[in-house]
Amino acid sequence: MADVQDLSSRIDGKPVDGGQQVELRNPADQNDLVARVTLGDADTFLRAARAANAAQAAWAAVPAPVRGVAIGDLGRIIANNKESLARLVTREIGKPYAESLGEVQEVIDTCVFFASEGRRLYGQTVPSEMPDKQLFTFREPVGTMAIVTAGNFPIAVPSWYLIPALVAGNTAVWKPAEYAPAIADAFVRCIEAAGIPAGVVQLALTDGEQTSIGLERALEEGLLQKVGFTGSSAVGRDIAALCGRHLVTPTLELGGKNPLVVMPDADLDLAVEGALFSGFGTAGQRCTSLGVAIVHESIHDEFLHRFTAAVEGAAVGDPFEPVLYGPMIAQKFADGFERWLEQIQPHHTTSGSQGIGRITADNPRAGFVGDPDRGLFQHPVIVDGVTADDALYLNETFGPIAPVATFADFDDAIALANGHGYGLSSAIYTTDPKSAFRFREQVSAGMVSVNNSTSGAEAHLPFGGNGKSGNGARQSGIWMLDQVTRWQSLNWDFSGKLQKAQMDVAEIQADLSFTV
Ligand code: UN1
Repeated sequence: MADVQDLSSRIDGKPVDGGQQVELRNPADQNDLVARVTLGDADTFLRAARAANAAQAAWAAVPAPVRGVAIGDLGRIIANNKESLARLVTREIGKPYAESLGEVQEVIDTCVFFASEGRRLYGQTVPSEMPDKQLFTFREPVGTMAIVTAGNFPIAVPSWYLIPALVAGNTAVWKPAEYAPAIADAFVRCIEAAGIPAGVVQLALTDGEQTSIGLERALEEGLLQKVGFTGSSAVGRDIAALCGRHLVTPTLELGGKNPLVVMPDADLDLAVEGALFSGFGTAGQRCTSLGVAIVHESIHDEFLHRFTAAVEGAAVGDPFEPVLYGPMIAQKFADGFERWLEQIQPHHTTSGSQGIGRITADNPRAGFVGDPDRGLFQHPVIVDGVTADDALYLNETFGPIAPVATFADFDDAIALANGHGYGLSSAIYTTDPKSAFRFREQVSAGMVSVNNSTSGAEAHLPFGGNGKSGNGARQSGIWMLDQVTRWQSLNWDFSGKLQKAQMDVAEIQADLSFTV
C-alpha cells in the first residue's frame, strides 16, 4: 500500500509536464501519501480538448460494432483488475472496500450493457407520404465531449459518460475530481489497454477554476459539442449558463435532497435498514444519499428509537474493514459538512453517536474501527424535529447526517418530499400499493424506490433528476444514447422527379358528412 504514484494530465497518452505540484493523501490515514499530482492549467485543458477534437473523426470512422468489441474488452480488463481498482478507490477517497467493489462492478455492468449497443445503435425506416421515396433515421455521435466528474463515485459515474460516448463514436476530454486522480489515471490506462486509441479519451488534471477557464476557451473555439457534469447544483448552473451561450446542451447530474417517507403501515425494521444505508452509506456523500426521513407521527417515536439504535451500533472507521462508512472524501468535504452541523437548532434533538463533529481520541465514538486521529472521520448524527424552514431541510448537506421530519397526512408527506426543490431520488416504505403508486405519481424525483433505499440505483435504469438536481438529462442504459448521439434524418427520392412534401401528396376523398 505504500507506493506513491506520480500523476499528471495525459494528452494523446503522454504525461504532460509542468504545473503546480500537490500531494494527495488517504483520507482514512493522512500519513499515507497516495500520489504526487502535477495539476495542469486552463491551457492544459484546452490542449486536451483540441487533441480530443482532432481524434474524433477517425474514431467515429471505426464501425460501431468494432467500437463495441473494444468496450467489451475494456469490461474484461476492468473485471481482471477489480480488486486492485477497488483498493485504489478505497485508499484514495475512503469508500468502504465492499462499496468500492460495487462501484467497480458498476463499470463492468456498464461495459457489458454498451458493448452490445455497438451492434444496435438502431435507426428507423419511416414511411414516406409519397411513392418512390424512403425515409430513414441515423444516430450520429455528438462529437467531442467535456466530462467533469465528482469524487464520490470516481470511476462508476465517469464510466456512465465515457462508455456510451465511446460506443457512439465520440471522443472526450475528462476532468476528474481533484480528490480522485489516481483512479482516473488507472481507468484511462485500462481504456488504452483495451486498444482504444490514446487520443479518444484525454485526461485533464486541472482544478475547478482552471477547468472553467479552459472549458470556456474550448467552447469558444468550437471544440466541444457536449458537456457532461456531475457535481453541485451551483457549479451546474454556471456550466449550463456557459453552455447556453454556445448552444451546447449539457448533461447535468447535480445535488439531491432525497426524501425517504415511512408510512404507518411500513415494515419498520426494513425502513430503518433502508434509512441507515441511505443516510450513512459512503458517509452520506452520494448524490442519492438520504436528504430527509419523513415519518408518520403514529410511528415516529418507534422509528426514531430503532433508527438511533441502528446508528449507534453501526461500525464506523477504517474503510478496509467491514464498516458502515469510512472517512470524508477530503478535507474540503469535512469542512463543508461541519458548516452544516452549525445549522442544528435548539428545536432539534440529536442522536446516533456519543459526540457530534469530527471523531477524535478526545471526541470518541464507541466501537470506532482503527485510529480516528489519522483520518477525516465524522460522527453520524440523526437530527429529529426538522421542519420545512430549516437549513438542514432546504439544502444538500453531503455527510453522515439524517434529518427526520414528521407528517400527519399523505399530502404533508408529499409537500415535504418536494418542498426543497431538488428532485433526484426518493423512497417510500409502505405495504399499501395505493400509497406507493400515489407517491410515484406525486413525488418530483426522477428516481423512486418502494421499500428500498434512496441510493443504489442499478446501472441500466435511467439515472437523473429534476428541479435543482439536473436539467432533465438521464444517464445509464438506453436513455444515455440520447445524450451522446444526435438524430440525423435522411429522405431519399428515387422517383426521378421533384416531389414536394405536403403539396404533391395523393388525396383520398372522404365524405365527412357521413353519419350512420
Ligand atoms: C452519485 O452519487 O452521483 O445510485 C451516483 C447510487 C449509485 C450512483 C450514485 N449507483 O447510489
